[in-house]
Amino acid sequence: MNIERIVRDSSNTDPGQFYLLLTASIVPRPIAWVSSRSAAGVDNVAPYSFFSVASTAPPIISFTSVGGAKNSAANAIETGEFVVNVVTESLTRKANASSAGFDSDRDEFVEADIASVPAETVNCLRVRDSPVALECRLHRHLEVGNCVVVMGEVVAVTLDASVVAEDGLPDFARLAPMSRLGRQEWGLPSRTIEIDRPT
Ligand SMILES: Cc1cc2nc3c(=O)[nH]c(=O)nc-3n(C[C@H](O)[C@H](O)[C@H](O)COP(=O)(O)O)c2cc1C
Repeated sequence: MNIERIVRDSSNTDPGQFYLLLTASIVPRPIAWVSSRSAAGVDNVAPYSFFSVASTAPPIISFTSVGGAKNSAANAIETGEFVVNVVTESLTRKANASSAGFDSDRDEFVEADIASVPAETVNCLRVRDSPVALECRLHRHLEVGNCVVVMGEVVAVTLDASVVAEDGLPDFARLAPMSRLGRQEWGLPSRTIEIDRPT
């Protein structure tokens, strides 16, 4: 069978189009719903799907702010603290609402009507109804291309007991995290299979 192969060369593709190609190809992406507080004390929350583990020892996670340091990145860099909250299906519309471009003096928990509670170990809020929250202290930030990559050391993870399996870890089906796809699409939690790693 001869299937046509399409080649998109970054050197002669409009950067905006290439961005759309990347985000529709690298899917599904987990969503870091980042909560932070500015040095002036204004609370902020916004979703970031350019999000991953950068190191396991120490435990470091990263999120990428596209086009420079948006409020979440600026706060994390300024105060050295932030929290990554997991987005579940019932929180999807609130997470989306919190992605609006609010000015830095607006409390986004209030603007997007998101219930919050203080984090346990860092000086900002977490999303009350998110079942897992990763509390972070800034490790470093890096400018990469047109982006700012923020790395945080996870100093504590708080979990709702309802999503924790017998082995002490979050159970995927109970956690049911949303993901980001391409375009304006979100992914619902998918099916899982279990396969032993080769020795
Ligand atoms: C599901 C989702 C994922 C997003 N991921 C990113 C991302 O990885 N990087 C980014 O810069 N913006 C991302 N955005 C857009 C930001 O959430 C948006 O620019 C927001 O206003 C930033 O808020 P802040 O300035 O309070 O940090 C995403 C939006 C949505 C809805």
